[in-house]
Amino acid sequence: MTEVSKDYPGAQAFVPKGASIADLARAARGCQGCELHRPATQTVFGSGQPSSRIVFVGEQPGDVEDRRGEPFVGPAGRLLDRALADAGIDREQAYVTNAVKHFRFTGTPGKRRIHQKPDASHMAACRPWLDAELAQLAPEVVVALGATAAAVLIGPAFRVTRQRGQLMPWDGPSGAEDAGVHSGWIVATIHPSAVLRTEGEGRDAAFAGLVSDLKVAAAALAG
Ligand code: URA
Ligand code: SF4
Repeated sequence: MTEVSKDYPGAQAFVPKGASIADLARAARGCQGCELHRPATQTVFGSGQPSSRIVFVGEQPGDVEDRRGEPFVGPAGRLLDRALADAGIDREQAYVTNAVKHFRFTGTPGKRRIHQKPDASHMAACRPWLDAELAQLAPEVVVALGATAAAVLIGPAFRVTRQRGQLMPWDGPSGAEDAGVHSGWIVATIHPSAVLRTEGEGRDAAFAGLVSDLKVAAAALAG
């Protein structure tokens, strides 16, 4: 693979100000804020109820999501669906999105594509989309699924392994006019893919841990 510049323009120039979720999703199809748009099939924007009081944020689309254009519809998505159901959360009533909107992968064309974690530069480039989504949705509760979402939403020093499942005040999206004013709650948990990667008997416990963290979010919503 050729080296690519880490100096991306970012999504900001592509984000229409004050746009609805539907208009943001439309505009995001043409985003060229970083180089990830080039090899990927399409932008995978957030999806769900614009009126949702709870928003789930993952890392980036995977192989299946890249092909279908919807977040969390592959194996990790099916596991998330089961965990949400067990936590008493209706995905149909929620909004699900990712910190980065294009699939990052390695592999030669025609062969299996291997997921690659986004760099901090991709997270920074894509962040205006997430901020715009959160500003529009103004959720009461945000759930960070995994370390990438937690790094973007809470900060790079946050450790999911130690601080997961804790209900913390959330100041709203960065750049919002009322940034700094407490406007909701945030809970971080492990990524559904981490449960899938857990071998053997540990998997049930990992799944139960995810469900238990999601219940914290559900309780914050009810309260
Ligand atoms: N993993 C994610 O973080 N997001 C998706 O949409 C799918 C898998
Ligand atoms: Fe734009 Fe984000 Fe895709 Fe990069 S990953 S091109 S910033 S939508």
